[in-house]
Amino acid sequence: MKKFEEIREQFKLKINNVNNHQSLKELKVEFFGKKGLITGLMSEMKNIEDKKSYGQAINDLKCELMAQYNIVEQEINEVLLNEQLKKDAIDVTLPGRKNKPAKQNILLKTAREIEMIFIEMGYEIAIGPEVETDFYNFEALNLDKNHPARDMQDTFYINEHLLLRTHTSGIQSRTLQANANKDLKIICPGKVYRRDDDDATHSHQFMQIEGLVVINKKQNISASMRELKTTLSIFANKIFAGEDLEVRFRQSFFPFTEPSVEVDITCSRCKGSGCNFCKQTGFIEVLGAGVIHKNVLKIAGYDEDEYVGFAFGIGVERIALLKHNIDDIRHLYINDERFNKQF
Ligand code: DAH
Repeated sequence: MKKFEEIREQFKLKINNVNNHQSLKELKVEFFGKKGLITGLMSEMKNIEDKKSYGQAINDLKCELMAQYNIVEQEINEVLLNEQLKKDAIDVTLPGRKNKPAKQNILLKTAREIEMIFIEMGYEIAIGPEVETDFYNFEALNLDKNHPARDMQDTFYINEHLLLRTHTSGIQSRTLQANANKDLKIICPGKVYRRDDDDATHSHQFMQIEGLVVINKKQNISASMRELKTTLSIFANKIFAGEDLEVRFRQSFFPFTEPSVEVDITCSRCKGSGCNFCKQTGFIEVLGAGVIHKNVLKIAGYDEDEYVGFAFGIGVERIALLKHNIDDIRHLYINDERFNKQF
């Protein structure tokens, strides 16, 4: 019994000094462990006559000390928890993290600006499918199956008759056919595809905005070369307003127009003196255009002698590159925040 009293006193002393998990654990091992003081009392059993009450007494002592132990353990846990809570406290006065506002990509923004210029001139928007038929993309534009000009527009074929459109001119064919012998004034924005090697000024996928005006010759306004040049000059002056860039019309060839022109704008990088970007020419080509070929009107069901029209196809990327002095077309697609947030 003396031994019991000693253990009890010892436990009291020690537990009063326990103030963290480590010393609590040590105390547990020292008293309740396999080789601990309480278990040690069992070894005396062999010398005890009334084994039952002795065993009972050990158990009582163990329960008594364990109860104290549990109280202290709970206290320590509470202290630790409170410390943790204090450390993790949320400072409600801190400003919240703001979501960065989304911004329109400069390519789409440029497309919308181009569209607005034509909408102000009375054009309506027409759209068409990106997966186009060979007929609308080529044949209806006077480019039959073995036409050599098809080489310049190699594309991705879905099958023999279906392909990823190489230009927005297919929407011309569709809209003409659906409105045969009616006046038309439309622009057609969209993505187009070419089997092309990507570099600073080329991409296998890019954007075009097609334009088309068809008018009955009996009207007192026309839609021929003169009106085409006026329209495109107005467009170039508006989109590049405030910039000192020259617009150049150059004779060209397209199977769907006759005569055909290409329009170049002074290279904004070198201001026309010649650099790598413009391949030393001082100009960047931004669009193709011309007076609609009679065959195109005829294939669509128009009376080709009664109607006249012009058409053009603007490369949206080229306009964006020139207008914002961007040195590589690929910046427009990569979605790098550092690039995007400049505009
Ligand atoms: N479709 C031509 C191209 O992608 C551009 C073009 C030229 C469109 C003349 C036209 C046009 O509407 O009349 O290269």
